[in-house]
Amino acid sequence: MSGGARHLYVHLPFCAHRCGYCDFVTVVGRGGEHASYVEALLAELELERRALAQLETVFLGGGTPTFTDPAQLEWLLGSLPPAEEVTVEANPETVTPELAYLLRRSGVTRVSLGAQSFQPALLEVLERCAGPDAVRRAFYHLRDAGFDNISLDLLYGIPGQSAPDLDRDLSEALTLGPEHLSCYELEAKRGTRFTHAHGAELSRQAESMETYFERVVETLMDAGYRWYETANFCLARDRAGGRDLRARHNLGYWLGRDYLGIGLGAVSTIDGVRRRNTSRLARYIAALAAGSPPAREVEELDAEVRSRERLMLGLRLDDPLPLDGVRSAVDEEALARLVRLGLVEPDADGGHAGRTLTLTPRGRFLGGGVTAELLA
Ligand SMILES: C[S@@+](CC[C@H](N)C(=O)[O-])C[C@H]1O[C@@H](n2cnc3c(N)ncnc32)[C@H](O)[C@@H]1O
Ligand code: SF4
Repeated sequence: MSGGARHLYVHLPFCAHRCGYCDFVTVVGRGGEHASYVEALLAELELERRALAQLETVFLGGGTPTFTDPAQLEWLLGSLPPAEEVTVEANPETVTPELAYLLRRSGVTRVSLGAQSFQPALLEVLERCAGPDAVRRAFYHLRDAGFDNISLDLLYGIPGQSAPDLDRDLSEALTLGPEHLSCYELEAKRGTRFTHAHGAELSRQAESMETYFERVVETLMDAGYRWYETANFCLARDRAGGRDLRARHNLGYWLGRDYLGIGLGAVSTIDGVRRRNTSRLARYIAALAAGSPPAREVEELDAEVRSRERLMLGLRLDDPLPLDGVRSAVDEEALARLVRLGLVEPDADGGHAGRTLTLTPRGRFLGGGVTAELLA
């Protein structure tokens, strides 16, 4: 038994528009259903309350949480158990001064703003509702409301994005001075409109993406950010008055901790069991309105699967991964080879021999390929 999950994820699926590249669980509009959805969320939380310990983090993700009817969003935030870190994902065009204050007075400590790019033409390719001015405005509204922990999401590898375009995006983002940045390579998700229109182009440009990734890392590290996870950067402690600005909620996932997810399509992993809620809005709301849990897929994770996941996720971090509990997932011959190639470093923390593994910077750029080879 884990003693209860300390991390709660809450899914708010509503969006003003469905961006062509997105395959998250979202529903467009449905203003009339926001109240019954939030009611269902709170009913699910009540049913699952026993699975929770005192919370460290809450994360409201989407969808576009800040597109949810403001009165419903405020009610939801006021009804959730308290936590040290409360993050809300926000789309720039939804962040008015009123919304920023609503989040602040409702106990939100951190906002993750989906900027994606600062180039109007690239934002258009992505079918984003917000232009660069809206991104900047949203950022300042959040600062004015008192937020001292703001993260920006950026995408690279957008069709038509040149290397100087990427440099401009990074420079625009840095000008705002966010505490945290997530920089993702744009993925062609199966079945999306975007993949249909641009999939071939994304495959053609795949080789140049390593250079783009290196550019992102180099620029952000030069600007004083810590590359603490493959795609995530936070202002280094000495630039942040000693604060550790890593995203604590996501750190929970990468460290293999238990978490409860509530809402449409939400995933939970507790005591070696993974559950995924139905992605059908009407079924989700109806089940909870009748006092029952929503339909779910359930998967038992055996020890082997858990070690493999722990290895794959743990090696995304810059902190050394303790080998205790994951040793059986490591192919020792592959490990020796990867160490010789300078891609993996054993005991980078200077501790006892054979206790931890870390990917070297070169290994981190190759990322998933190195981890896949390491797996027994
Ligand atoms: C689920 S979205 C929710 C945030 C918010 N609705 C938005 O659009 O900014 C979270 C993040 O996932 C990333 N994302 C979404 N689709 C992606 C894709 N196809 N490839 C890479 N990253 C993606 C984007 O950077 C986005 O900010
Ligand atoms: S990218 Fe964000 S705004 Fe666009 S459809 Fe996905 S969740 Fe909604």
